[in-house]
Amino acid sequence: MNFLQDSLDLFEGRKTSHMGAHQYVPHAGKRNGKPTSGDRLWAETEEQHNVSSKAMFNAETVLLRQAASKISQFIPQGLPVVDLGPGTVQAFRNKVQPLMQAIQSEQYIPVDESIVFLQDLFHSKDIKEKYSVRPMIDNFFENESPYHEGSALVCSFGSTISNIENPMSGNLPEEALIKGLYRMALAANDGALLVAFDSNQNGENIKEYYRLHALFQLNIFDRMAVELPMKNFDALAFDYEPIWIPASSQLAHTAIVTRNTDFEIGDKSIHLEKGQRLHLKNSYKFETAFFEKACRALQLDILRVWEDDSTSKVYLLRLPPYAASKTLVIPSHSHTERAVA
Ligand SMILES: C[S@@+](CC[C@H](N)C(=O)[O-])C[C@H]1O[C@@H](n2cnc3c(N)ncnc32)[C@H](O)[C@@H]1O
Repeated sequence: MNFLQDSLDLFEGRKTSHMGAHQYVPHAGKRNGKPTSGDRLWAETEEQHNVSSKAMFNAETVLLRQAASKISQFIPQGLPVVDLGPGTVQAFRNKVQPLMQAIQSEQYIPVDESIVFLQDLFHSKDIKEKYSVRPMIDNFFENESPYHEGSALVCSFGSTISNIENPMSGNLPEEALIKGLYRMALAANDGALLVAFDSNQNGENIKEYYRLHALFQLNIFDRMAVELPMKNFDALAFDYEPIWIPASSQLAHTAIVTRNTDFEIGDKSIHLEKGQRLHLKNSYKFETAFFEKACRALQLDILRVWEDDSTSKVYLLRLPPYAASKTLVIPSHSHTERAVA
């Protein structure tokens, strides 16, 4: 994953919705004198929303506590835990640690593109004392690798699965979700996958929530300004606008260009028109029937679903016990076919 190339692809319109993993990265960028480093803004977002039990992140924590009390009925004790996109130490304490305690797991393998989250987890004294921590820097949506040799419990929390890449469209993102889940399933070998996401279909409510954190969505422009070889670039020439497409439950995070602007990035000249829209990332709000259809397409067994009167969902999924000769085939137009054993 290359920030320069991804930024160029964004401005030249070659790719869309691919900037998500870059948003959490630490950088020296500032706005009006205030640091806008992605990891800090993310931690602030999390802090503000840990207050109400109905707010997305806290609702998930409540469900995961329930899952922790039951999970040992479904999976073997001592299974290593692979955490895809761990985020902050606080998120580990709230969501992952209760599960690890419940299954008496001692091995923790956090996988993230943002090195600072991995460093914080690795250096946290109380975590180090209790667990063997093996952090890995990787893009789990781009690469197909098990992060542990034997089977594992793979966790993906904070609706990270909803950040799959897909253009803005009224069509359901079937292929993109299947691919995203497939990569997560590969990380589990023949273990289990615990996935949490938000399923809220109230567009106004969702947009209002994300508008509160516009700066988090826009911080990549501040990072570009301080890290990339750019000339005449104004990081303030973009406004945040969330777009809700009900037919596909797609929340698209977009940036609108606020004035005609010309700048250079590397050896390329870019011209952006006032009003032009750049599609930065998705936060899909999958409906359960759609999510379950994607699970079935991958032959993932739905072992248990935890839900309550919030819009959060937690799914415990298991891969069928593939023998070395068996393959997991991604259906539809994709041609990927891989052995999973
Ligand atoms: C939405 S946050 C979730 C954090 C935490 N699990 C929680 O529940 O609060 C997404 C996390 O995944 C990481 N991330 C996002 N996309 C990624 C990718 N494609 N590859 C690796 N890490 C990614 C981010 O850096 C961040 O730590």
